[in-house]
Amino acid sequence: DLMTEKPRLEVLLAAPRGFCAGVDRAIQIVEMAIEKFGAPVYVRHEIVHNRTVVESLEAKGAIFVEELNEIPNTDAPVIFSAHGVPKSVPVEAAKRNFFYLDATCPLVSKVHFEAERHYKAGLEIILIGHSGHPEVIGTLGQLPEGAVTLIEQVKDVEDFEARDPAKLAYITQTTLSIDDTIEMISALKARFPLIQGPAKEDICYATTNRQRAVKAIASDCDAILVVGAPNSSNSKRLVEVAVRAGCPKAMLVQKASEIPWESLEGIGVLGLTAGASAPEVLVDEIIEKFKARYDVTVEIVRTATEDVIFKIPRALQQAAAQ
Ligand code: F3S
Repeated sequence: DLMTEKPRLEVLLAAPRGFCAGVDRAIQIVEMAIEKFGAPVYVRHEIVHNRTVVESLEAKGAIFVEELNEIPNTDAPVIFSAHGVPKSVPVEAAKRNFFYLDATCPLVSKVHFEAERHYKAGLEIILIGHSGHPEVIGTLGQLPEGAVTLIEQVKDVEDFEARDPAKLAYITQTTLSIDDTIEMISALKARFPLIQGPAKEDICYATTNRQRAVKAIASDCDAILVVGAPNSSNSKRLVEVAVRAGCPKAMLVQKASEIPWESLEGIGVLGLTAGASAPEVLVDEIIEKFKARYDVTVEIVRTATEDVIFKIPRALQQAAAQ
């Protein structure tokens, strides 16, 4: 054979990776709504942070908007994204007589309920999270302005001035780095020993499992690709976790056409994972591209199994049953 042999490449496939139960449910809500009520259905904000998902739903008849005021008066269903919304959004939707369906992940709603409970107990609330992310906007928007203070880094803990250090509670975004968050919580507890909070933090099972899985392969990989969007919080955290756990190079890619071939030259072991909003087909396509250039062996490295499923909203179940 005169053909030059392909170089060998070992691919370590992190498991769990990709879709979580909240993303699955949110996509299912849009698809069922289109099926039951016909197109169009309106979706406020990207249902999940992934272009491939959004474009495939658009092709089926979903119309994505950022705010409700972009939606004309309509009988069509209006769906809120998995990240959650400020209280003002359902209020506005009701005012406009929209038939709305809430695709907020139940694990985000859980944090909303915690916030409400602390507020009713007269506590000042600290939210650990990233400014500007829709989940943070939604969680802040559960309570009147000033009730919740956002904290993004340990330095913010030092600068925070409590109204009453004995009446404090914290909640967190669901998709944070576990290690960063532990650090911030210990800083909070050091300064405010009486602060109340959840048993650990509000980081969800999917975020936790994906970070653990990427950690398990990080030091064995020459490079790691994380399939995910630049606006996907949990995907960005996977890149950070990979680097911190000892992988020399970790990068976010949205799809196979974005593989940074040049910076991957000379690697022998590639790690691959995907954020909670990235469909598995994108991972498959990336592996195919590598197979065209390398003699690839794939090894799945599983650190947890997942069997979480969330129910779809009753309004949609009932409509679907008719
Ligand atoms: Fe929910 Fe966590 Fe997914 S909060 S949407 S299960 S990443």
